[in-house]
This record gives sequence, C-alpha cells and structure tokens, in this order.
Amino acid sequence: MFRFRLAAPLLRMLDPETAHDLTLWALRHRLAPVARGPDDPILAVRLWGRDFPNPLGLAAGFDKDARVMGPMLGLGFGFVEVGSITPVAQDGNPRPRIFRLPEDRAIINRIGFAGAGAAAAAGRLRAWRASARPGVVGVNLGKNWDTTEPAADYEAGVRALGRYADYLVVNVSSPNTPGLRALQGGAALERLVARVRAAVAEVCPDRAAPVLIKIAPDLSAADREDIAAVALASGVDGFIVGNTTTQRPAGLRGRHRNEAGGLSGRPLFELSTQVLAHMYRLTGARLPLIGVGGVSGPDQAYAKIRAGASLVQLYTALVYEGPGLVARIKTGLAARLRGDGFAGVAQAVGADHR
Ligand SMILES: Cc1cc2nc3c(=O)[nH]c(=O)nc-3n(C[C@H](O)[C@H](O)[C@H](O)COP(=O)(O)O)c2cc1C
Repeated sequence: MFRFRLAAPLLRMLDPETAHDLTLWALRHRLAPVARGPDDPILAVRLWGRDFPNPLGLAAGFDKDARVMGPMLGLGFGFVEVGSITPVAQDGNPRPRIFRLPEDRAIINRIGFAGAGAAAAAGRLRAWRASARPGVVGVNLGKNWDTTEPAADYEAGVRALGRYADYLVVNVSSPNTPGLRALQGGAALERLVARVRAAVAEVCPDRAAPVLIKIAPDLSAADREDIAAVALASGVDGFIVGNTTTQRPAGLRGRHRNEAGGLSGRPLFELSTQVLAHMYRLTGARLPLIGVGGVSGPDQAYAKIRAGASLVQLYTALVYEGPGLVARIKTGLAARLRGDGFAGVAQAVGADHR
C-alpha cells in the first residue's frame, strides 16, 4: 500500500516530473489507497445523461495518456478527465518544465502537451470500456504543436477517442502551445465547434458525447461575452473554467515564481472563481460549468458550486495534500450542503447569484 505520508518527503526531494512518473507507476501497480464505501447520496449529480456519484473530479494533465483511470476513480473521485491528448505523440518542451512553489501551494508548468498520442490512448480507453467498470471518464483533446490546421487535430481526436468518452473537452486554453489560445476567439471557435460536433455525431450516433470548451482564466470580459454567445448559438454543452493562468498574482513567494508557464493551485482560486461566476451569469445557467482552479478543501469546492459550477475538479492540491484530500472534500462538502439546507448539489449550483 502506497502511504502518502511516508512517501511525501521522498517525492518532494525528486524533480516534480520524476515524482509524478513514480506516482503513476505506483498507481498502475495497485499501490494506491482505495476509498471506502459508496458516496453520500447528497453528493450525486446527474448531467448530460451521466451519473456522477460525487461532483469532485480529477482535472486534465494528471493522467495525460489514460493510464490510471481505474486507480484514480478508486481514490474516490466522482469522475476522471484524461488528456490533453494530441493526435500524434510528441515530446513537449525540454525539461525541467514543472516547478513546485510550496510556499504558495502552487505549480508552474510549461509541459506543452507531451504524450503518447491518440492511438495509444485509444487502445487503453477501449480496454477500459470493454472491462465495463463503472465510472465517468472525460477525454480532453489538444493539438500537436506543429499542426497547420488546428481544427483538423481536434477532429482527429474525436474520431480516435470520441466513442470512449463520457464527455469531450476541446482544450483551447493551455498557455504552452503557440497559437492555441487564439482558438478561443469568436469566429475561430464557431468553426472549430461546428467541425467537432459533426465528427461527434458521426462517431457516436446513438450516444453523442457532450462537447465542453476549456477556457483560460486570462480571457478579458469582452472575450468571455463573445465565447458565451458562440457557445449558446452553436450547441456547446458546457465550459470548464478554467486552465492555468499566465498571470503572476502579487505575493507569490516560491523561488520559481518567474518561470514561464501556467500557474495553478491556491493563487489561482480567486481569479478562476470570479471568471466562473461571470460565465455563469453570461450563460444564464443554461450551460453546465465545471469549476477548476485552486480547490484545496471543501470550502473552495463549495464556493465553486455556489458561484455556478455543477462539477468541480482539482489537480495541484493533490500534489501537496495527498489522496486523503478527496475524502476530506467530499465529507466537508456534504456537511456544508446540509448545513445550508440543500437537498443536493444541483440546488446549490449558482446559489450566490440568487
Ligand atoms: C502539471 C500540470 C499539467 C497540466 N496539463 C493539462 C493538460 O494537459 N490539459 C489541460 O486541459 N489542463 C492541464 N492542466 C491544468 C489543470 O487541468 C487545471 O485546469 C489547473 O491546474 C487548475 O487546477 P488546480 O489549481 O486544481 O491545479 C495541467 C496542470 C498541471 C499542474
């Protein structure tokens, strides 16, 4: 059994990416803890025709190549998002490219979509589906860095992986792939969504996977208005708000704070929650939102829900707190929902706006 409290000091001595590879190895070899018992029914969420036993998910980037869905669901996550997956395998940026800022409970990364590519992930996702194990698995799609036609890459991702996905994410918000964030612009996004949706209709005719757009917390208010209008007009099924930020909030203390890349973890909480609340107001609660950025305990998870999130994700806090965090957030969240008189998560979504 992998004991985080014992392993943490060792993992912290290692370069972050080596520590992550070791963690994935341990997870693949069933050295991970397993959550006990079913989830509290107050945490259940039904969205897009899928049943989530609880609203807390693993954010993209942890399991880029779809290797550890089972063990991560076993930790107690209500869903797991794999990726970002690019059509063709690629190395990403040179190492080191992940930096811990322990004083800030934050990470800066500039990985730039490193991974084994869509065909390799498809093989594992196919085997996962064939095993008929329960659990919601979303697939996050990226583009190769040297592609000349980005929309073709997302279409290729849908064709390779769409049939295995409970939901698909068009990631146009990672800061480490040149040109990627430009796809968030109104006209470009409209064309991209049309192409992705057409491909989804072809590959999963009977159970179309919902298509979500993952946006950057750095979009201006005007950009957000544009993107919300496009989404409502073009049949996007939801947003993930959001990715890492290229901003460096005042007060960061970690010695790596000036490294290039996207910042995640605690210092991202305020910004990402404000953008989430704005997207909730813009989409008039008609589109489900997944809130992500700086969730490190039940208070932040609950705040995301009250700001407008139907589901919540995290990544960075897991690095600092370990796997016990998942159960702590779920217990705390259930208590907060009951304390405020809500019968379920759905009732609390957007409560701060009412
Ligand atoms: C090391 C690392 C790699 C990531 N890779 C991806 C990725 O491939 N695709 C993606 O959409 N988001 C990626 N993310 C962003 C996370 O999914 C999430 O949006 C962000 O980290 C904010 O959540 P957090 O503060 O809980 O970490 C990555 C984050 C980290 C820390």
